[in-house]
Formats: sequence, structure tokens, C-alpha cells
Amino acid sequence: MPKTNTMLERAVVSTRRPPHATDEGVSGEVDGGDEAGDESKTRKHISFAIRISNYLTRTRYFWPVLTLALVIAIASSLVIHSRDLVCVSASSSDYISRLRFFAFDGLESDFGSLGVPCCRSKHGRTVEWTSKDLLKGLEEFVPIYETRPIKNNMYGMGFDHSFGLWFITRWLKPDLMIESGAFKGHSTWVLRQAMPDTPIMSLTPRHPEKYLKKGPAYVDENCTYFAGKDFVDFGKMDWGRVMKKHGIQDLSQVLVLFDDHQNELKRLKQALKAGFKHLVFEDNYDTGTGDHYSFRQICDQFYVIGGGHSCFKDSDEARIRSRRKNFWEKAVDIEELCGPGEAWWGVRGQMRDDFNHSNKAITYAEHFENSRFVESVLDVYWELPPVAGPSLTHQTRYDPARTPSPVVEDGRYGLFQRLGLSRLEASVFNGYTQMVYLQVSEPQK
Ligand SMILES: C[S@@+](CC[C@H](N)C(=O)[O-])C[C@H]1O[C@@H](n2cnc3c(N)ncnc32)[C@H](O)[C@@H]1O
Repeated sequence: MPKTNTMLERAVVSTRRPPHATDEGVSGEVDGGDEAGDESKTRKHISFAIRISNYLTRTRYFWPVLTLALVIAIASSLVIHSRDLVCVSASSSDYISRLRFFAFDGLESDFGSLGVPCCRSKHGRTVEWTSKDLLKGLEEFVPIYETRPIKNNMYGMGFDHSFGLWFITRWLKPDLMIESGAFKGHSTWVLRQAMPDTPIMSLTPRHPEKYLKKGPAYVDENCTYFAGKDFVDFGKMDWGRVMKKHGIQDLSQVLVLFDDHQNELKRLKQALKAGFKHLVFEDNYDTGTGDHYSFRQICDQFYVIGGGHSCFKDSDEARIRSRRKNFWEKAVDIEELCGPGEAWWGVRGQMRDDFNHSNKAITYAEHFENSRFVESVLDVYWELPPVAGPSLTHQTRYDPARTPSPVVEDGRYGLFQRLGLSRLEASVFNGYTQMVYLQVSEPQK
């Protein structure tokens, strides 16, 4: 993968803009159409208006009243217009409060001021692709995604991560792709779309063909499955032997996808031991959420902008968190964030593993050590941004303030439409959990 050796540029420009900044595609044509249907009402209004204006002119209140009326008209048109830009759901009181939240408080302002945590790579390097490359990729990927065999991939990847995996894979052009956790085979299909002729290895306890009996699933012809009775956990595999068998000499030509809900620190150590360098982790859960210890959690430290948390109930953070929880399903308030002894790291002070079948309380010192270790092996850490802002995708789950700025920012409906994203159902945008691409190497001794 020669391209990855020069991954020096920042991938995404993180300039944040207010949600209502621009809107290329939303026109005002729709409003007013209904009213034109009832002509009699309009006429009555006109004659009444003329009578009022005559009276006001006579009494010299005409200009002050006209100015006031204009101000009210402009203000209400702004409110009506911004309705197209925000995510509208449920009741009208919900709608009004959400509108106030978006329009006046800003989508990202709260946590934006606290920052978005992320891991630091050893030498500050990042990926070579840019936001322009991501936009071009999106344009290409939407029609591909529309042909996916598994339309309902609940519990698997949605649109954002499918795009991220496809984009990263196509950019890196590996000689071998390994996936751990295939479920019905959607991610195998995504890998195949990115690299039509490259072999895949899939490690997953239940073979995707089993799902075919119940509905759509994807089984790949050029994939070696370690599934069913042949299942081997990634950490137990003799990778040296397997690579030899497949004629892979250069491990930097291999891309590994982890979507198996295992402790990511454990997976990182196993991948390093095997010598793999390019890793993608699908579920990079934010602190206080998820069923396994993730890089987001590991790197969340007091010295990281947006990291380290206060469990003090009267703190600004507590107030901000409880407010944001009203709007975003996955947001966590202080009660949920903090475990016994005010432990906020991981999930309530726990290092979770294996779909939360195992969880272990760790001290802050251990958690800090883990982040030191991770940062000592990171050459690149890149979180996929959400494809589009929530006012466009209508997603209500993840808090946009805890994510990098989206590829298509709020307010850019024209662009959203041009990329074909408006053709997709809203539900496919709900699964974003900060998918991350890592380039790793053992620390030099
Ligand atoms: C979230 S699903 C994967 C979704 C899939 N990648 C997709 O995009 O549709 C997690 C999968 O991990 C599998 N799994 C559980 N334990 C595993 C392990 N130790 N190694 C690999 N896969 C495992 C589960 O059986 C399940 O199929």
C-alpha cells in the first residue's frame, strides 16, 4: 500500500458552521401554494387590509405599524424556512424546543466548547485523503450502496460506516482483507465492492449462509470463511501460517476490519503481535456508551480536548449533558456516565468486552496506562466523520457535538441532494459510532 506511506495531510477540514449557514437546494416555492387555492379568503383579506391601511394613513400610524408588521413577517418566515433545515419529529412542542435548540443554541456549541476527544498519533501524522476526496467518494458510493443485497441491516453497518469502509479500502488497495464479525455479510459485500478481485478472510461464529434461510444475506465466492465449526477467534489464529498459505509476505498490504464487539485494546495487541498495520474498528464508542472498550474511550483523558469528565452534579458538564440527552438518544448524562467512586472512564469505570458479556472495573491509573500504550503505537488515527449533519439525515441518535464535523454540513441540502443522499431512507443514517482507521507499529525500543 504505497499511498499510506505519505499519509501526512489532514483529511477533514474541521471548520464548524452554524446549521442554518447556507442552503443551496431548499426553495421557498412550496410555501404559499396552498393558500392560493382559496381565492375568496385572499380577496376578503385584501379589502380588509386596504380598509386598515386607509385608517392608519389617516391617523399617521401607517409607517410605524407597517415597519412592525414587516419585522414580524420576516421573523416568522425565517422560522418557517428553518423548519426545512432541522430534524422534525414527534409533537409540536418537541418541534419548537428542538428548533430553539438548533437555531439559537447551535448544534455543536455545548460540547464544541469542550471539544471532541480523539487519540494522538506518535508524530502527529494523519491520512492523506481530504474532504474533497470524501465528497467525490460519496458521489460514487451512493449508487453502489443502493444495490446492496441486505436492505435491512439492523445490528450491522448503516450508510456512514459502509461508506467509510468502502472509501478506506479503495484508497489503501490491500492485497488481502480480513474481517472479524460478519453477521449476515453486509460488510463482506462492502469490502467486495471496494476491491472486486482481492481475497477476503472472514472470521465469524455463525456462517452468513445460515442467514440465507431467513432472508437476504451475502456469501462471497472469493472469501475464506472461518465460521461455524471452523470458527477461530482472531486472537487464536496462527497468522504466520495463514499468511504463508495465502502467499502474503508483506503484512502492510493487509487490511483488517474489526466489527466483533471485542475490547479494542485486546484486538490492537493481537493485531500488533501478528504484525498487521492497517486496522479499521467499526464501533468506536464514545465514553459511557457501548458494549466494549473502544479507542474513543481509551484516549478520553484529562489532557485531551473534550476529554476527562466531571462527575460533579452541579457542574456545567452535568447541565450540558442533561440538556443534550433530551435531543440525542445516545447522549449520556452524568448519572449514566459516572460509576462508583466517580469513575467516568470506559463505561462507568469498566473496561467492557465481548458484547458486554465480560466487564472489568479498572482504576484511572490503569485507564491512563492504556492510553499511553495506544498512543505509543499509533502512526495514524482517523475517525470517519458522519456523512451529513442531522438536519439533513434526520438522525436523532448520536450527538453531533461529540463527532467530527460532517462531510456534508448542515444547511447544505443542495449538495446532499446532488450526492444522491436524499434518496436513502433516514434509518440508514442512525448507526454512526465514530468508525476509526488506525495505522500502527510497535514502539521503537
Ligand atoms: C455487529 S455484527 C457484525 C456486522 C457486520 N460487520 C455488518 O456490517 O453487517 C457482530 C458480529 O460479530 C460476531 N462475533 C461475535 N463474537 C465474535 C468473535 N469473537 N470474533 C468474530 N466475530 C464475532 C457476531 O456473531 C456477529 O455476527
